[in-house]
Amino acid sequence: MENLALIVAVGKNNEIGYKNKLLWHLPNDLKYFKQKTLNKTIIMGRKTYESLPNKLPNRKHIIITKDLNYVCDEKICHTIKSVLDYIKTTKEECFIIGGSSIYKEFIPYTKYLYITKIEDTKEADVFFPEVTEENYHIELLGENEDNNIKYKFYKYIKKD
Ligand SMILES: NC(=O)c1ccc[n+]([C@@H]2O[C@H](COP(=O)([O-])OP(=O)(O)OC[C@H]3O[C@@H](n4cnc5c(N)ncnc54)[C@H](OP(=O)(O)O)[C@@H]3O)[C@@H](O)[C@H]2O)c1
Repeated sequence: MENLALIVAVGKNNEIGYKNKLLWHLPNDLKYFKQKTLNKTIIMGRKTYESLPNKLPNRKHIIITKDLNYVCDEKICHTIKSVLDYIKTTKEECFIIGGSSIYKEFIPYTKYLYITKIEDTKEADVFFPEVTEENYHIELLGENEDNNIKYKFYKYIKKD
């Protein structure tokens, strides 16, 4: 879907999280995340939502959970299909922001993958799924570093 993108920061082993937390604190990558997602719709699994210290300002949140009794102030969807139906019928630009299970479910439908590749490894319990690189045009958008940890910003564009 043309209005669907995904954004993730991965370590050398595709690791993305541990004990429901991010693995690195990279202020310049967080700025990049903000710049990409500001005024967009962000879509996330219930665990990622609960891992956020607070709601991200100026972004519409959609939370995915199977729990029919889940209560929060954001829009809630209980199935992947209902999220896809929403994306199909809206003009909003939507960003999948994790976590692991949600990335996996949505990669087949996502046109643009913004992947920050961090040149470091950490112990992790959640990972970004393997993507088939031949299915994408891959652009290097830039690079940056925080606290001597280097990383590169890639944009994967799914081939038609
Ligand atoms: N490095 C990064 O860029 C990045 C980005 C985001 C997150 N993270 C990290 O990733 C970790 C969280 O990821 P996670 O994979 O454990 O959890 P998650 O994907 O954020 O959330 C999982 C939850 O989403 C709901 N869900 C998943 N599939 C569903 C489906 N088909 N239908 C309905 N609901 C569904 C379920 O909620 P219920 O259990 O309520 O039913 C499930 O427990 C944290 O460590 C976080 O810091 C890293």
